[in-house]
Amino acid sequence: MTRHLITSAIPYINGIKHLGNLVGSQLPADLFARYQRARGAEVMFLCSTDEHGTPAELAAAKAGKPVAEYCAEMHAVQAEIAKGFRLSFDHFGRSSSLQNHALTQHLAGRLADAGLIREVEEEQVYSIDDGRFLPDRYIEGTCPNCGYDKARGDQCENCTKQLDPTDLLEARSAISGSTKLEVRKTKHLYLRQSAMRQQLEEWIDSKTDWPVLTTSIAKKWLSDGDGLQDRGITRDLDWGIPVKKGTEDWPGMEGKVFYVWFDAPIEYIACAGEWAEANGLDDAAWQRWWRTDAGADDVRYTQFMGKDNVPFHTLSFPATMLGSGEDWKMVDYIKSFNYLNYDGGQFSTSQGRGVFMDQALSILPADYWRWWLLSHAPENSDAEFTWENFQASVNKDLADVLGNFVSRVTKFCRSKFGTDIPAAGQMGPAEQALIDELQTRLTAYQSHMDAIEIRKAAQELRAIWVAGNEYLQAAAPWTVFKTDPDQAAAQIRLALNLIPFYAVLSAPFIPDAAAELMTAMRCDDWGWPDDVASALTRLPAGHAFDVPEVTFRKITDDERAEWQEKFAGLRS
Ligand code: MF3
Ligand code: ZN
Repeated sequence: MTRHLITSAIPYINGIKHLGNLVGSQLPADLFARYQRARGAEVMFLCSTDEHGTPAELAAAKAGKPVAEYCAEMHAVQAEIAKGFRLSFDHFGRSSSLQNHALTQHLAGRLADAGLIREVEEEQVYSIDDGRFLPDRYIEGTCPNCGYDKARGDQCENCTKQLDPTDLLEARSAISGSTKLEVRKTKHLYLRQSAMRQQLEEWIDSKTDWPVLTTSIAKKWLSDGDGLQDRGITRDLDWGIPVKKGTEDWPGMEGKVFYVWFDAPIEYIACAGEWAEANGLDDAAWQRWWRTDAGADDVRYTQFMGKDNVPFHTLSFPATMLGSGEDWKMVDYIKSFNYLNYDGGQFSTSQGRGVFMDQALSILPADYWRWWLLSHAPENSDAEFTWENFQASVNKDLADVLGNFVSRVTKFCRSKFGTDIPAAGQMGPAEQALIDELQTRLTAYQSHMDAIEIRKAAQELRAIWVAGNEYLQAAAPWTVFKTDPDQAAAQIRLALNLIPFYAVLSAPFIPDAAAELMTAMRCDDWGWPDDVASALTRLPAGHAFDVPEVTFRKITDDERAEWQEKFAGLRS
């Protein structure tokens, strides 16, 4: 049996994520995890909250709470919303876990032993007004690479370049806005990524099947020379993982913590340890996913993330993994995404612009959002959310195509034959043609899902729904019934059988609706339909069903206008 390890980039703890964040990592990862489970694979799907670093400290300060308390609360909030969106994590961990502390310190020790860490006396920006050093996001300024004027001390959001706070032009404190900054000396640890250039280059070159977006970003930073500069992996912060060499103190590093981007990806591994602990399992249980010397050799590992995360996953994190000299499972495939924009501009957490996950669920069920977001995933270019587009695709795809099919078929059957699957009649050439078409489309759907081509998969799924409608329209059992009720019975028996077939195929996209359809059809056979002809005999003659309530409702023009207005401003 194939085993799939799947991770989503772990969302920052600072507040509820917007739909752009969701579609760039957690949601497509969930789609893939659900699909692989449905195909019978053993899946370990992990995600966590990213709790360290300046974003967490700044947000806690803003909320007026101790940072540990703030993180615990926000973790619970994010976990609840993730459930609301039906994100099917096997575990939703925390980068502040004991497991991550231990593993991060362990790996730093291994890297030091391998000679891959150097101690650097460095100049760092100190804010006189704030009375502290300003690492990463505590400082903002102009990007030296592209000129964007809201670049942060750790990365430019605009051009994805990784930065150090001293790189910024016209720097200012993100805490006070003060420009009374000076450069002071402090000691930090640097990971010698440059020493690993060849190893990383070879590793990336061996990934010939990666999506263009991933490879192009990785190669850009590799060849740029800059991307593999040695990186500071420690910070002068209170909150974070204390700098230690394994379990020993690190002389000269007292009071410092690891940089958030050093410990965050390590949490992918630590999270599996948290999962084992939460389920009363031993270390071997998680190591068989993560250690190639403990059985992870035959695991296929796929990561999901937005494009701004790619450099960290193609260079920094692999440098940690390979540099440790231990037998860690390396990622096999990195699926990355462009940005989703909101109504003519960008989604923005800091500005509160766009629709946030909690708000989305407060107006419509998860499936409506899942369908729109996944079928418009920003795979090959940036995509844009507009309320018109959202309304149109929910109303057309979900209500008119899928919902309407189910409702017509079940209601027609009830009125003419009752709510048992009718037994009479034989299939003819039209039915065979439908089965042939569905078999071809099923193969295409599977290959898009296997390749994580999400838009193409959504299109194919929609075409599978449409095929049922077209068959029904052409067969017209309501007309046939008048002259040949047996033939109408055969037609409707096939059409009713399409409902569980659709439910099983659609469940990775719209799990709640799929479950409702299965309940209505009183069917609990979730087996993946390898052979369409036999899948369409799953509900035998005489099998009782219920006419489902409205599966999908339409979004009215009034609602659309109301939401458009409600979400036009900024969330405070
Ligand atoms: N929190 C980061 C973000 O939202 C992603 C961290 S991914 C990990 O951009 F690899 F570091 F875990
Ligand atoms: Zn830039």
